[in-house]
Amino acid sequence: RVPVTALLKRPVDLIVRPDHAHHAKIPLPGDLFAPERHNSGGIEFGERAALDRLLTEVKAATPDLKPVADATPEQAGAAIAAARAGFAGWSRTPAATRAAALEHAAHLLESRNAHFIALLQAEDGKTLDDALSEVREAADFCRYYAAQGRKLFGSETPMPGPTGESNALALRGRGVFIAISPWNFPLAIFLGQVTAALMAGNSVVAKPAEQTPRIAREAVALLHEAGIPKAALHLVTGDGRTGAALTAHPDIAGVVFTGSTDVARHINRTLAAKDGSIVPLIAETGGINAMIADATALPEQVADDVVTSAFRSAGQRCSALRLLFVQEDVADRMIEMIAGAARELRIGDPSEVATHVGPVIDAEAKQRLDAHIARMKTEARLHFAGTAPEGCFVAPHIFELRDASQLGEEVFGPILHVVRYRAETLARVLQAIERTGYGLTLGIHSRIDDTVEAIIDRIQVGNIYVNRNMIGAVVGVQPFGGNGLSGTGPKAGGPHYLTRFATEQTVTINT
Ligand code: NAD
Ligand code: ALA
Repeated sequence: RVPVTALLKRPVDLIVRPDHAHHAKIPLPGDLFAPERHNSGGIEFGERAALDRLLTEVKAATPDLKPVADATPEQAGAAIAAARAGFAGWSRTPAATRAAALEHAAHLLESRNAHFIALLQAEDGKTLDDALSEVREAADFCRYYAAQGRKLFGSETPMPGPTGESNALALRGRGVFIAISPWNFPLAIFLGQVTAALMAGNSVVAKPAEQTPRIAREAVALLHEAGIPKAALHLVTGDGRTGAALTAHPDIAGVVFTGSTDVARHINRTLAAKDGSIVPLIAETGGINAMIADATALPEQVADDVVTSAFRSAGQRCSALRLLFVQEDVADRMIEMIAGAARELRIGDPSEVATHVGPVIDAEAKQRLDAHIARMKTEARLHFAGTAPEGCFVAPHIFELRDASQLGEEVFGPILHVVRYRAETLARVLQAIERTGYGLTLGIHSRIDDTVEAIIDRIQVGNIYVNRNMIGAVVGVQPFGGNGLSGTGPKAGGPHYLTRFATEQTVTINT
């Protein structure tokens, strides 16, 4: 059994986050929760005083939890018309002015950190460290896209040409962008989509997930306060029917969508059926993400990284680990260590600082996950089942499958599936990963360079993590996004993301 009391409190961010100018001035979870800083037993904290300050502020926060009404179809149509009218002014606003508004938004997020943490806990069930990471990520997106936008949209690129002719290439906004987001990162993904589209010169109609409209309402109010004109940014709340109506509207110029693969397909079909212009779709979707751990990996590190990757955020991350392939020679010991580490997790009230795993998003999600667990109990070998309190909680589970194909589809919760493989059948493991059709994240734990390189060379996934956990991509450090069933390949938080939202215009002048 691994001594890992504060396992999930060892932050992903602390390991990888260099000190970039665009990173938020908000403490890293690691500054507050780093177990290596103090060794006094129990849950241990890095900066006790900073943590106490933050907790006091979060407790004192009074987020507005009044219900948000769904928009009517007329209101959705009116929002698109208003965004269309707002496009002309916003697209001509200098890139430096657009960027300054996003930088101001990052500053406002930092100064209202505790308020947004409280809101994320109340509406989305986020644990303290997940909420803290999310506010940081949201501020990082604002600053990063501002910096990229200044570079990309600040001036034209002169092109070569014969004497007497000038050529220049410019990036410009497309028009009205529809931004449709999921509930699992209701602040960071919501703001990431919206700020990228705005920075590229588009006006935006944002449709958040029906589970998290209050966070979206506050995020939009914050952007307006930061200097984004009301005409350029509109919020339309509602469920999938509202999203479908927005994407079917004839006057839109682009859609950025993050969510399930099925809904991305639906939107793709809607856009393809339009008679008017060809409307691009930026889709960032799900994954059946795998990790391969061979016999050379460090077992304690594998246990730590597997538990973080599979169970942090109650497994409700698109990047989360679903399928662990373990080399037969070490499988028994590794599974035992992973189960030991999972046993240490505290599941419950997300506002309790010691909680590692909070609730799942709603009763429907719990029902789906419980049904999957019931099926696995009859079809697979149960290695570990945690205990969860009453309510919308799902305890971490570990099942061993005979074959990866038993999993079938993305299971969006804290359920880990393990498959054993023999060293000589690694090629079959890679085939099994490819057969899922997804391509979002992949973890590799091995100390053999040739093995690592061969896997990287073969597998086409968006984000590969070697000898560490596989969640928590950092803006501007690990550009994030997948291929195949996992999306159209854009990299949120990467240097090329904004270009996906723009058109390119070449102007040739015979001087
Ligand atoms: P979802 O697809 O059910 O909903 C996402 C959004 O789409 C919501 O706002 C919803 O109202 C809207 N929607 C639903 N039907 C629609 C339709 N027909 N037309 C237009 N919009 C519609 O996903 P979810 O349950 O909110 O989120 C979980 C999923 O998101 C998981 O599959 C997860 O892997 C994925 N995800 C992917 C990423 C990534 O970056 N790749 C990040 C987070 C979540
Ligand atoms: N960007 C999020 C992660 O990497 C989904 O975990």
